[in-house]
Amino acid sequence: MTPRENFGSRFAVIMAMAGSAIGLGNIWRFPYMVGEYGGAAFIVVYLVACFVLALPIFFAESIIGRRGRADTFGSMQKLAPGTGWRWLGLLTVLSPIIILSYYSVVGGWSVEYLFKSLAFDFTGPDARIDGFFGHFISSVWEPIIAHTLFIALVAGIVLGGVKKGIETFTKICMPVLFVLVIVLVFYSLSLPGAGKGIAYLVKPDFSKLSAQAAAAALGQAFFSLSLGVGTILTYASYIRADENILTSGVATAASDLFFAILAGFAIMPAVFAAGIAPGTGPGLVFETLPFIFNRMGTAIPWLSALVAIIFFLTILVAALTSAISMMEVGVAYLSEEKKLPRWRAVLYITVFAWVVGILCSLSFGPLANVHILGNNLFDFLDKLCSNWMLPLGGFLFTVFCGWKMSKADVYDEFTNGGTKNRNLFRPVYFLIRYFAPIGILVVFVSALLFS
Ligand code: PFF
Repeated sequence: MTPRENFGSRFAVIMAMAGSAIGLGNIWRFPYMVGEYGGAAFIVVYLVACFVLALPIFFAESIIGRRGRADTFGSMQKLAPGTGWRWLGLLTVLSPIIILSYYSVVGGWSVEYLFKSLAFDFTGPDARIDGFFGHFISSVWEPIIAHTLFIALVAGIVLGGVKKGIETFTKICMPVLFVLVIVLVFYSLSLPGAGKGIAYLVKPDFSKLSAQAAAAALGQAFFSLSLGVGTILTYASYIRADENILTSGVATAASDLFFAILAGFAIMPAVFAAGIAPGTGPGLVFETLPFIFNRMGTAIPWLSALVAIIFFLTILVAALTSAISMMEVGVAYLSEEKKLPRWRAVLYITVFAWVVGILCSLSFGPLANVHILGNNLFDFLDKLCSNWMLPLGGFLFTVFCGWKMSKADVYDEFTNGGTKNRNLFRPVYFLIRYFAPIGILVVFVSALLFS
């Protein structure tokens, strides 16, 4: 058997983890949430949710992954042999594959929109924006072809392996992604009327801080840091023994937050400058923004065309680096537990996610009337994962790390055999053992009650 691969350097670990974390969630959800839940006041709540609740879960997953040195299922088997914990391993193999299925549909939309902006379709004199999004996603073939292209790209990168595929891709793309979003921020801030968008993002409004806002902050922190689904665990299993788990966790959370804030400043000033009401989700990115590019296109056509291209390239790259982390979880499982060659593992996961993705794509068109618990398939899977599987997985990972693993093992991993972060071990262990699991439960139950 070929030896297990590792990431080559600290930079590589952080780029891969940040690549997983930074994705569509940062671009289409965070900016809107900030504006709706109280601007700077919400950012403070989000910071607390991120660093006090989400980061301990990140550490728990990292500790389990590096200690287990295996995929999610294998790590559970190694660290708690013969126990029911292997079900957590299986749950967290399944959830990222489900997320991959519908995430790839949206990834496909960004492929389509990139092509459209390259063809100047959003900015030319005869651009047809009105109703384009609704028409596109409800049609049969175009979104399926785009989804196929996207998932093929993901499969191609994952097929390259941990080092040559994932590491090389994220090491190149993540810095580029930051440059792209910074260019967008400058453009957006230079627009006349951008001030209102800035005020929307930063003006603190403490009256909007409710239990619902706290639940929203935690849910977003979870999704944004890719927690509870085994991606961080799997990536951590490729971290070398002498790397520092604390550094990679803090650097990932900080870059994720920084990117989300940059995305806010890239989007909202432009939205307000165009005099449009801000929205959230796919509508913000795929409906509102093309409209804005089109409007601005009347002033300097080539500039707004270029901005549209940069914008959809940013979304595509962010979605790709997240999607590869989702696919890697299942691929690691199939190749390590079922001993499949990597290419075959990639093929199986790709075909599964591709087929489920096609059904999700059709759920905006011909299958729109097929409802599961009142939702179309796409929304059902998104809610199932975001509202249930992620918090459940995160909760169980903290319980596993805090209560099932021996304290000595957790200490050994977190402090690299007592050589690093020794002073921080006690507070972090407390957060993992008590604060994070209780916090997840409280927020989860209150979200259920309030929704
Ligand atoms: N963190 C990604 C985002 O913010 O878009 C989403 C994500 C990636 C969720 C990987 C789950 C996952 F396993």
